[in-house]
Amino acid sequence: MLRFLTAGESHGKGLVTIIDNFPAGVKIDEDFINEKLKLRQSGYGRGARQKIETDKIEFLSGVRGGLTTGSPISLFIKNKDYENWRDRMDAFKPVPEESKIHTPRPGHADFAGSIKFGLDDIRNVLERSSARETASRVAVGAICQILLKNFGIDFASAVLSIGGVGIGTAEILADTHAAKKKATELNSDAFFSETAEIDRFSIDIFDPTIRQNIENSELRMPYPEHEEKAKAFIDKMKAEGDTAGGLITAQAKGVPVGLGSFTQWDEKLDAHIAMSVMSIQAIKSVEIGAGVKSAYLRGSECHDSIYYQSADKGKGGGAAGGFYRKTDNAGGIEGGMSNGEIISVTCAMKPIPTLMKPYLDTVDLNTCEPKKAFLERSDVCAVPAASIVVESALAFSICYFFLKKFGGDNMNEIKRNYDGYIKNGTEN
Ligand SMILES: Cc1cc2nc3c(=O)[nH]c(=O)nc-3n(C[C@H](O)[C@H](O)[C@H](O)COP(=O)(O)O)c2cc1C
Repeated sequence: MLRFLTAGESHGKGLVTIIDNFPAGVKIDEDFINEKLKLRQSGYGRGARQKIETDKIEFLSGVRGGLTTGSPISLFIKNKDYENWRDRMDAFKPVPEESKIHTPRPGHADFAGSIKFGLDDIRNVLERSSARETASRVAVGAICQILLKNFGIDFASAVLSIGGVGIGTAEILADTHAAKKKATELNSDAFFSETAEIDRFSIDIFDPTIRQNIENSELRMPYPEHEEKAKAFIDKMKAEGDTAGGLITAQAKGVPVGLGSFTQWDEKLDAHIAMSVMSIQAIKSVEIGAGVKSAYLRGSECHDSIYYQSADKGKGGGAAGGFYRKTDNAGGIEGGMSNGEIISVTCAMKPIPTLMKPYLDTVDLNTCEPKKAFLERSDVCAVPAASIVVESALAFSICYFFLKKFGGDNMNEIKRNYDGYIKNGTEN
């Protein structure tokens, strides 16, 4: 069973990751991993920290001569910022009383974490709950993508909207009278005009032009006209000492039929993806396919009719042979199993909880006196970075079930199993 563990603090020496049960014989492309790490660090609206760090992967074990060996893979990502924090983050030096934090930020792990672990310095919570940890998850996701590329599985992700500016705002509220009224109200704001009407289900983020737009965009948005408005929105939040969240999609193409299972609740692909994605800091919803919108559709509108075309007429390939759908409201998953269509996940990221102005009330955990939440260097908007993390989480879940289905200790074995399954599926 593929699994991974991460360790490391935001301002500690670095992040350590162990990936267990990864097969031997996978050719590792370091540049691909570092490129994903770079993308996680970029994006309009990030804080000063990202200018200090240039994340680079270092393999400590499990890879030799460019190929995985089958042994646990251990990775290290250095925190350059540690040099500025040596005194405060040292393993043995006493922590100066004046540097301790006692005022929990609403929306962060500070409050529950300090009480749960009985800590008198919130820094002990925030150092580990910080999204710095997502660098490890991106490295894991990139390694999973490298394996899956060998089987024609491709991943893409995009930012659909920031603070409601962009795609999906009207439609996510569903096609009801009240929702339409709400959407009209939103549209009255200059930021939301023109952008809210586009249906997020009509965009193909694998389309080469759209993909190029996403790559060129500082916000990883598919349409340049949305980007300008969203940037203006981020600038406004920054000027007001506030923060912004947004809507993200991540998708996988080329996934064969039958990953995951209907036989047990914890074997379901959609359930695994939901956990992988929901565990990302600040992600507050996970939708598969039409998601929330499904609640507003009739059965006859919602379910994706099944068609067949033989391979010689153009459709075909994959374990499903020539079976295909014209719509993908199911987001590529039925009964907890991949059905051969594009697997699509959409999720909401809440606004960053650390604000640069004292808007939020809190209480000093030592004195129980009312206080304003503390201010710390922080991102204004990290939605573009989070989109890479969501893509990575999706890659891990798919790789987990891919190896479960075709698993072997080395790539040759996996290829044999995969080819045998695909061949049988097509002949059925
Ligand atoms: C890529 C990324 C960057 C983030 N950057 C910050 C940040 O700079 N400041 C902050 O307070 N929260 C940041 N967050 C969000 C917090 O880590 C998150 O809200 C917190 O850990 C509490 O978890 P929860 O929101 O899931 O409840 C970031 C999240 C992600 C995914």
